[in-house]
Amino acid sequence: MKMAEGQWLALVLCITSVYHVTCLNNGLALTPPMGWLSWERYRCITDCETYPDDCISEKLYMEMADLLVSEGYKDVGYQYINIDDCWMSKERDGRGSLVADPERFPHGIKHLADYIHSKGLKMGIYEDFGTKTCGGYPGSKFYLQEDAETFASWGVDMLKLDGCYTNAADYEYGYPIMEFFLNRTGRPMLFSCSWPAYISNPDYVKIAKYCNIWRNYADIGDSWDSVRGIIDFYGKDKGNFSKVAGPGQFNDPDMLIIGDYGLSYEQQRTQMALWSMMAAPLFMSSNLRKMPGKSKALLQNKRAIAINQDPFGIQGTRIDMIGKNIQVWTKQISPKGKSFAFTFLNTDEGGSPTKISYLLKKLGAIAPAGYNVTEVFSGAFVGMFKPQDSLNVSVDPTGVFFGMAKFLG
Ligand code: GLA
Repeated sequence: MKMAEGQWLALVLCITSVYHVTCLNNGLALTPPMGWLSWERYRCITDCETYPDDCISEKLYMEMADLLVSEGYKDVGYQYINIDDCWMSKERDGRGSLVADPERFPHGIKHLADYIHSKGLKMGIYEDFGTKTCGGYPGSKFYLQEDAETFASWGVDMLKLDGCYTNAADYEYGYPIMEFFLNRTGRPMLFSCSWPAYISNPDYVKIAKYCNIWRNYADIGDSWDSVRGIIDFYGKDKGNFSKVAGPGQFNDPDMLIIGDYGLSYEQQRTQMALWSMMAAPLFMSSNLRKMPGKSKALLQNKRAIAINQDPFGIQGTRIDMIGKNIQVWTKQISPKGKSFAFTFLNTDEGGSPTKISYLLKKLGAIAPAGYNVTEVFSGAFVGMFKPQDSLNVSVDPTGVFFGMAKFLG
């Protein structure tokens, strides 16, 4: 039943004051979640007559679930099939419950969740904290408890709660309340918040108490400019949000667009490398029916995924620049403080590959016993290096050298 605004505000104050002492503890996202999410590639296509393969429908999610398994994505860790916006009917039903669009989801969401679970996968869904979703479908404002219970009854495993159509001041109350209601259902649901993306100067420590993952920058589009913008935003962070990341709580730079239209192969390598370095959730948003072989190999690269999924959950950071075009990133991996991944990113958009010579100790490699360095994508052994040795590599325009230095102690 819909609550009046006054009742809702009273509930806000009550729950947040009680709830501050408890916080998120659903045991989920101990490493960055991995899966497939429809938004970047399939947006809000609702015309299934014209676009039978691309429209937001149970057919799309079932097929992607099938392909996650049959094409080997599940075997390397991709697990969630996530519905994004535009899955609903334009109105709630007579009792105020959300309903899926009956034409596009003729069997309902529970049936879809059951199907996805039968494949050994998990299902995510999308809602919005405001009065409407960004695409104009019914939002959860005044219905948070109801919607949390509906999602639990359908067998939802993850909720992306967007932040359109509400007041900036409401986020810091609304998201914790939704987290409270999700917890109260007893069904563990990974909570993806868009809260920091909608406000200036987010309190990330507070956000991490309530959310497993959170978006904090503009939506990704299918272009290098978009990917580059996100990398720069994360690169400029001086420990504000990057240091908050850890098991159960990760920054979300948005979906992987590898295998779509906008990135060259070099740029796809760059996205995979940087998303691995940033301990980012790995949600592919692409057509798994027609994934180019080289893109699929990147998405399934076990060494890159192992860096992303490292159990310490440390977010890599940009530690240096060489000239104005080469960014140097490092990420500590287990064993903590000893081994690390590193990336040289060449943001030059023209010309030939740039040659780099960089002292190992400047990457943080200070153990006198030395390190074995491998190139991550190929697994090729580069050599054994001591801290005072220089590593010489060549990096293509808009490409990366993605390395791993394993402590030899
Ligand atoms: C916002 C989000 C996107 C997507 C759309 C759906 O823009 O940031 O990721 O969910 O809404 O309308």
